[in-house]
Amino acid sequence: MCPNGYSRTGMYRVLFDLILSRLDPERAHHLAFLVIRALPALGLGGLARRYTAPDPSLAVEALGLRFASPFGVAAGFDKDGEAVLGLGALGFGHVEVGTVTARPQPGNEKPRLFRLIPDGAVINRMGFNNNGAGCAANQLLRVRRARRRPVLGVNIGKSRVVAVEDATADYLTSARALAPVADYLVVNVSSPNTPGLRGLQELELLAPLLTAVKEVAGDTPLLVKIAPDLTDDQVERIARLTVELGLAGIIATNTTIAREGLRTDPAVVEAAGAGGLSGTPLAARSLEVLRLIRAVVPPELCVISVGGVDTAEDVQERLDAGATLVQGYTAFLYRGPLWARQINRGLLRLRSALVEA
Ligand SMILES: Cc1cc2nc3c(=O)[nH]c(=O)nc-3n(C[C@H](O)[C@H](O)[C@H](O)COP(=O)(O)O)c2cc1C
Repeated sequence: MCPNGYSRTGMYRVLFDLILSRLDPERAHHLAFLVIRALPALGLGGLARRYTAPDPSLAVEALGLRFASPFGVAAGFDKDGEAVLGLGALGFGHVEVGTVTARPQPGNEKPRLFRLIPDGAVINRMGFNNNGAGCAANQLLRVRRARRRPVLGVNIGKSRVVAVEDATADYLTSARALAPVADYLVVNVSSPNTPGLRGLQELELLAPLLTAVKEVAGDTPLLVKIAPDLTDDQVERIARLTVELGLAGIIATNTTIAREGLRTDPAVVEAAGAGGLSGTPLAARSLEVLRLIRAVVPPELCVISVGGVDTAEDVQERLDAGATLVQGYTAFLYRGPLWARQINRGLLRLRSALVEA
C-alpha cells in the first residue's frame, strides 16, 4: 500500500517499484508496448488468451457488435493500431486505436508524460503523435484479417497544422480512410493538447462536424468523446445533440486540465506543466458525467465510461450507473499486463457474489 492508500500488488508491483518507476515514463510505456505488440508474433497470443480470456458470461452486445468483455483499452495507448491483437490476448474486449490524425505528426516535444505516483495518475501532453490515417488504415486492414481479435474502435482528431476553421475537412479525410476498417469510429473533440480542439465542443461547431463525419462514416457506428471540464449543462446539451443527430454513442471522458485535490507534491505537479490529467483523481467527475448523460439519453444509446477506473468494483460501478462499456488507460501503467484479466475475474466474482446473496 502506498502512503496515500493507492495499492499495487504482486510481481508487477516489484517490477514497477524497482525498475519501471525509475525509467522515463514514455520509455517505460514504449518498452511495455513493444512486448504487448510482440505477443502474437512470438506465438504467445494463444497462450496468453487461454490464461486471460474473459468468461463468456461477461460478453456484451452493443453497437451491433459482440464485445467479449465490457472492459476495453482507451484511446492513446495504441496510437497506430500496432498492438491490437496483443491487447486482445491480454483480455481487453475492445481496443480504441488513436487518436489518428489525417496527417502524420510527431506530437509535442519530450518529456511529455509525467507520473503522479501517490495519486495513481499521470499528466500527458503527447499531442497526437501518430503515423497518420493512411498508415493506420493499412495497419488495421491487417488486424481485421486475424481470426480472433477484439472489437476495434478508431478515434480520430484534428491534425495540428490544420486551422480550427478547416477542421471538418481534416476529420473527413481521416473518416474516409478509417471508417471502412473500424468497428466503430470516434470523433475526439476533447484532448487538451491540440490548441483549439476542445472549442469544437461548442454546439454550433459540433453539430455540423458530427453531421458531416456521420455521413462519411456510413454504416460504421459513430461516437463522440467529450471532456470532463465541460459544465453539467454543456454535457447535457451534447448528450441531447448526439441523440438528435442519430449518433451511436458518447465516450466520457477524456483527461482533465484541472489539478485540484491531488496528493502529489505540488512542486512535482507544477514541474510537469500543462497537459491532461488522468487516473484516480478523474474518477469522481467521470462518474458524474456518465450519470448526467444517462439521465438524458435513451437506454439504447451506447455510453462508454472512461476516467480513473482502477478495480473491478470501479468497472461494475460504471456499469451500474448506466455505462454500456468501460475503458481504462492510466491504471494499466500502474497495474501491469494482467490488469484486464484482474478486472474480468473481479467482475465475475462480484456477479457470483450477487447471485449467492
Ligand atoms: C498518455 C495518454 C495519452 C492519451 N492519448 C489520447 C488520445 O490520443 N486520444 C484520446 O481520445 N484520449 C487519449 N487519452 C485519454 C484516455 O483515452 C482516457 O480518456 C483518459 O486517460 C481517462 O482514462 P484513465 O483515467 O483510465 O486513463 C490519453 C491518455 C493518456 C494517459
